Amino acid sequence: MIKKCLFPAAGYGTRFLPATKAMPKEMLPIANKPLIQYGVEEAIEAGCDTMAIVTGRGKRAIEDHFDISYELEHQINGTNKEQSLAGIRTIMQTCRFSYTRQLEMKGLGHAIHTAQTLIGNEPFCVILADDLCVNAPGMGVLRQMVDLYAKYQCCIVAIEEVALAEVHQYGVICGQEIANGVYQVSDMVEKPKSEEAPSNLAVIGRYILTPDIFEVLKNTPPGKNNEIQITDALLQQAQSKLVLAYKFQGKRYDCGNMHGFVQATNDFYHLYAQSH
Ligand code: G1P
Repeated sequence: MIKKCLFPAAGYGTRFLPATKAMPKEMLPIANKPLIQYGVEEAIEAGCDTMAIVTGRGKRAIEDHFDISYELEHQINGTNKEQSLAGIRTIMQTCRFSYTRQLEMKGLGHAIHTAQTLIGNEPFCVILADDLCVNAPGMGVLRQMVDLYAKYQCCIVAIEEVALAEVHQYGVICGQEIANGVYQVSDMVEKPKSEEAPSNLAVIGRYILTPDIFEVLKNTPPGKNNEIQITDALLQQAQSKLVLAYKFQGKRYDCGNMHGFVQATNDFYHLYAQSH
C-alpha cells in the first residue's frame, strides 16, 4: 500500500569523525552490513519497493553499494564468497533506488521537503538509518507502522520512552492514548530541555507521512537550531488533522552515538556467532 521509503542521508555524521570524514555515516557497518542496508531491508519487509534517498556531497558510496560491482562480482564468481552478496543482490532485484541531493543542510524537515520530487503525491515512509530497529522477522517497526496506517490513514511517528535526562536529543510528543500504545498527538517539541518537555515519549527515526506534509513543510520556518524541523510541521498538521505516535514493539539502537553503535555491534555479533 505504501510503496516508497525515504532515507534522509545528507548529514555529515560529525559524531563519528574521523571515520565519517570521507565515508557516509550511513555506510558504517554493524557486523558486516552497513546501517542503510538494515534500513532498506526493514522498508522492503514493510512492503516498500522504491527507496528514495536524499544524499549530499561525499555520499556516492551509498549509490555504489546498491549497484552492481562488475569487477568484484567477476572476481568472486563461482566461489563460496558469492554467498556474501546474496542479500544485497536480492535487494537490488526487489526494489528501485532514486536519489536527489540536498544542497544545504537546513534540517530534517528541509531534507524531507527536498525529496518531494522523488515521492510525488502519495503516502511514504521515512527511515533515519542511524536508528537501527530490530524485532521478530516479519514484524519490523516499519511493518507495524504500515499496518497502523492501513487503519488510520494519517501521519504516524514511532516513539519510545526515554529517561528525562535524554529528551533534549529528541522530538518529544504528548497526547492521549486512543488504543494500546497509540497516541493522538496534541503537542510535539523538538529537543526540549527536560524541565520543558511535555513527556518522556521520544520520537525515533521512523515516520509515515502523508503527502500534504510537503505543503506544510514549505511554510514551516526554521525552528530549533535554526533548522526546518519535521517536528514543527507535524505539530502544525496535528492542529487540524489526526497525527499518531506509536509505541513500537522491538528494540532500537541509536547508532548515531558511540554507545548505541557498540551495543548494536555486540548484539549483532552474538547473533552472527550463534549462526556460524
Ligand atoms: C531527528 C529529529 C528528532 C528525532 C530524532 C530521532 O533528530 O529531528 O525529532 O527525535 O531524529 O532519531 P537528529 O537525531 O537528526 O538530531
